[in-house]
Amino acid sequence: MNNTQKVLKILSDSTNYLSGEKIANEVGISRTAVWKIVKNLQDLEYPIKSKMHSGYYYEDDNKLNEFIIKRNLVDNLKNVTFELHDSINSTNTRAKELSSIQNDSHPLIIISDQQTGGYGRYGRSFVSPSKTGIYMSILLKTQTEVLNPGLLTTATALAVARTIERNLGVTPQIKWVNDVLINQKKVVGILTEAVSDIESGSINQVIIGIGINYLSDLSIFPPEIQARIGTLQQYVNNTHLSRNFFIAELLNEFFELYSNYQSGDFIAEYKEKSYLIGKKVTVTQGMKEITGYVNDIDKKGRLVLHDGTILYSGEVTKVRLT
Ligand code: BTN
Repeated sequence: MNNTQKVLKILSDSTNYLSGEKIANEVGISRTAVWKIVKNLQDLEYPIKSKMHSGYYYEDDNKLNEFIIKRNLVDNLKNVTFELHDSINSTNTRAKELSSIQNDSHPLIIISDQQTGGYGRYGRSFVSPSKTGIYMSILLKTQTEVLNPGLLTTATALAVARTIERNLGVTPQIKWVNDVLINQKKVVGILTEAVSDIESGSINQVIIGIGINYLSDLSIFPPEIQARIGTLQQYVNNTHLSRNFFIAELLNEFFELYSNYQSGDFIAEYKEKSYLIGKKVTVTQGMKEITGYVNDIDKKGRLVLHDGTILYSGEVTKVRLT
């Protein structure tokens, strides 16, 4: 860690004002050097307040900050590593690049303030404007030989829905497999990608990409998608919850579910939040369309229709309310 990172960490970890002298002693530099570093950080939009005779105070706002995320993680996640970017093409693409060089068995989290080439399922683009969204990829060494990507995706959707409900005071619904909705509008997209080992051919890493319209104003999205997407903006404005805190809470929920997702025990809760149970839907699988009433989502995360048809994957393209 360089001196700037050290000063930023000390300020981010503190809940009150710290004097320049205290920071200088801790880092082993002069007070003038601390002053210069703080000035640079302020120029980079880090929300550090300076007060005569009191020193410096970091007031968490909308700026992404790895130290604040880490501070709010549960103890058993303290060894998770992070890579933060101001702008990147796609956090999932970056995770793929790193998957070939990452030997560490700890999870790696890539987060960017903006994506210039964000993508979703079926290669669609995922519009990712700066400063307002959460764009994150979790790179994991798979836990067991048997990866069930469908179940992992459903577990991730539940982790996101729980985090929204517990922290923002609104109850989202989940549209199988992985769309998180508020008032029937998609506020979160999730994309799970498997990385296979070229030599063995087996899947040994998985990337879970999560994109959230957190503080985004709907007007900044292209008109053609505005009708079907939503944003958490009004709930975030009511609670003043920072992106850093939300990300930490989401990771806490995700890893709790991940530790036992293969059991499918969480599906009961997923079903309670399902937007589809009892409704007539059309599911598109490539060129094929299947229509029927949704009876259940089973413990493997599959959609079960009234006539007994079981669907592992696909996209729900139509939902009729009766
Ligand atoms: C979908 O709705 O089809 C899934 C969207 C997934 C978007 C996220 S944003 C972070 C990560 N990086 C990407 O390029 N995509 C995922």
